[in-house]
Amino acid sequence: MYGDYELEIYLDGLRGVLPKLPIDMRLLEKKAIEAWPDEIVSYVQGGCGDERTQNLNVSAFERWGLVPRMMVDGSKRDLSIEMFGKKFPTPIFMAPIGVLGICSQDGHGDLATARAAAKTGVPMVASTLSVDPIEKIVPEFGEVPGFFQLYTPNDREIAESFVRRAEAAGFQGIVVTLDTWIAGWRPRDLAKSSFPQLRGHCLANYFTDPVFRSRLPKPIEEDPVTAVRLWAKIFGAALTWADLPWLRSLTKLPLILKGICHPDDVRRALDGGVDGIYCSTHGGRQANGGVGCLDMLPGVVEAAGSAPVLFDSGVRTGTDIVKALAMGATAVGIGRPYTWGLALDGTAGIVHVLRCLLAEADLLMAIDGYPTLADVRAAKLIKVC
Ligand SMILES: Cc1cc2nc3c(=O)[nH]c(=O)nc-3n(C[C@H](O)[C@H](O)[C@H](O)COP(=O)(O)O)c2cc1C
Repeated sequence: MYGDYELEIYLDGLRGVLPKLPIDMRLLEKKAIEAWPDEIVSYVQGGCGDERTQNLNVSAFERWGLVPRMMVDGSKRDLSIEMFGKKFPTPIFMAPIGVLGICSQDGHGDLATARAAAKTGVPMVASTLSVDPIEKIVPEFGEVPGFFQLYTPNDREIAESFVRRAEAAGFQGIVVTLDTWIAGWRPRDLAKSSFPQLRGHCLANYFTDPVFRSRLPKPIEEDPVTAVRLWAKIFGAALTWADLPWLRSLTKLPLILKGICHPDDVRRALDGGVDGIYCSTHGGRQANGGVGCLDMLPGVVEAAGSAPVLFDSGVRTGTDIVKALAMGATAVGIGRPYTWGLALDGTAGIVHVLRCLLAEADLLMAIDGYPTLADVRAAKLIKVC
């Protein structure tokens, strides 16, 4: 059981072995910030505007508390879920993060993350923006299903090519991110005049794509500047509901829309044949002036009915995971915290982060008398203020 990580750490301590990385996510974050170059710190840690939405995503969890139940046999817990006809050992996944490649010390963070998925059973949602192309990432998943996150280019043939390649590579679902067809106003990056993709980072999926390459006057190797300019031109399509039938027609794989927070949008997406809803504020990186994502989750869950609801934004602890599940999320996305583990110790660092989060969630379920996720979903939550 995931809580066994606790005993493992204490037993190691008897041999004088202390955990290599901090257990407290706030300390882990601090160490990652110290380890990264300034441009990576601002890109990963920063958000839109004065970062109020980003901060509210985290503090929203403080305003809800779980009421424990006693005299329940919590000695065996089951954290597994079923989603899109597949069984997953845990209710968490790694959210798509576009600069993973350059967050790691070896410059191949996407591969390191895929290997962490294989080791933990926690699926990775691989971003369109990666240092290594998707064809190299998927083999690292082992038996664990992976998902491809599509930033929809405004050149439909490139979009179609990406989806075809994702299917051929072996991804098990396509996540289309809706809130990022244009970059939000990010003062930290602007102050450094630094946007990694415009410096040619994390564009491997574009540069290896036959349709993208066919749009260039000269091979990328001869003229990378024109290739980056083309990327900036085609990166984002301002999708509307009129595009949904086209998106749906691209694949028979489960189609999940990311960034949906309004119940009416949930209903519209499901009416259009979408398989899953992904409630997210993009970690407060895209739009400021919103509310904590957790506060929008109940409305999304209610509108989604029996459709799976994936959730991210602000999850920092195992307790946060349990709260999001109690509010009806089917699966909970871990974002920035796994990049901190990646920064400090590659695959092993991510594995450590995921094990800490799962151990805390598992032990909380044991102690609060919620041995199954059905119990968690029936749990009583009280608004603290
Ligand atoms: C550095 C960074 C890059 C991201 N890149 C992507 C991306 O490529 N695609 C995407 O859909 N979301 C992306 N996101 C958003 C995450 O998938 C997720 O919604 C967000 O990290 C959740 O917020 P949290 O990390 O504060 O919990 C990115 C987030 C960060 C921090």
